[in-house]
Amino acid sequence: MLGRFDIFYGIDLGTSNTVIYQQGRGIVLREPSVVAIRQDTGEIVAVGTEAQAMIGRTPESLEIVYPLTNGVIANFDMTSQMLQLFIRKIEGRRRWLRGSQVYISVPCGITSVQKRAVEETMVHKGAKKAVAVEEPLAAALGAGMPVDEPIGSLVLDIGGGTSQVAVLSLGGIVVSHTVRRAGMSIDKDIIEYVKKTYSLAIGDRTAEEIKMRIGSAVELPEELSIDIRGRDLIDGLPRAVRITSGEIRGLFDDFLSVIFEAIRYTLEHCPPELAGDVVERGMLLCGGGALLHGLDRRIQAETGVPVHIAAEPLDCTALGAGMMLDYRRERRMGTGLPGYRESAAAVEREDERLRQEA
Ligand SMILES: Nc1ncnc2c1ncn2[C@@H]1O[C@H](COP(=O)(O)OP(=O)(O)O)[C@@H](O)[C@H]1O
Ligand SMILES: [Mg+2]
Repeated sequence: MLGRFDIFYGIDLGTSNTVIYQQGRGIVLREPSVVAIRQDTGEIVAVGTEAQAMIGRTPESLEIVYPLTNGVIANFDMTSQMLQLFIRKIEGRRRWLRGSQVYISVPCGITSVQKRAVEETMVHKGAKKAVAVEEPLAAALGAGMPVDEPIGSLVLDIGGGTSQVAVLSLGGIVVSHTVRRAGMSIDKDIIEYVKKTYSLAIGDRTAEEIKMRIGSAVELPEELSIDIRGRDLIDGLPRAVRITSGEIRGLFDDFLSVIFEAIRYTLEHCPPELAGDVVERGMLLCGGGALLHGLDRRIQAETGVPVHIAAEPLDCTALGAGMMLDYRRERRMGTGLPGYRESAAAVEREDERLRQEA
């Protein structure tokens, strides 16, 4: 059934970015989860990086759609078409997904019906096997955490649409908590700030650039600045201003307090032994938000829990999904806590059987 020539994919279907890992090749695709469609026909004109470049520059006939918003699949059809186009990009002329096995990390907020629908879409399109996996589990595995052991591990994933805190143990999620404050909400705050302070309208991409270039959660030894352009709200003409890291630092406070509260909530709701493990061993910080300057130090100072940034914060979820293929752990993973009751021996027998078949 499972052939030697099968292709194994680990996919991270994120609200901001889609990342695809292919076994033996590494990360083969990293593109924004966005599509540009023609309004009259609904036809997709561009996906990913190409579509992103059109943001804020579209003629009226084109519309930019984020098929995954707020950590849920807002538009299922669009999501599956987007995935299809991404896979076509990496597979070239080969038939879509033929002979492949796909482990796909889906946003935490999606329903089990949607989760099944994602799996079915993959199989319908030619995959031999498709398994939807829990995002924090994939992220932790990809970052090299000991998710299989009876030790509590805390993962804080700050993405585009949502931030998620989860405590894992024995290959399952013990508690998790998701908030709708993440990268994109910070961008919105920056847009508001520039509007109020400078009477200047800027787009999402400019706001994101400000955040990535000069945003910081702690004071910097030397303040940074960036020159940006926007449209004057009074005379309607383009105008440039210089923004400094110091003046926008306060904008992160509200977001940060939501994150601190989410960490506190999660620790309060997990068994004390596991919370003890976390306090001792620290938490894993991943997702694009982990790259915000000084965020690790600020969280550590506020919560007293040591913070480790994942080596590849933007890729670890796809890597982890890809690793699940290897370990063939799906029977224990993705099903939450009861999974660990399956003995390790049974999993080994299954692995042996698959080896024999290969
Ligand atoms: N250097 C950076 N500093 C701050 N935020 C960043 C940085 N790089 C990326 N981000 C933010 O990370 C978010 C995307 O993270 P990602 O983990 O890919 O999200 P998702 O899993 O939701 O697709 C975006 O909001 C982006 O602006
Ligand atoms: Mg993510």
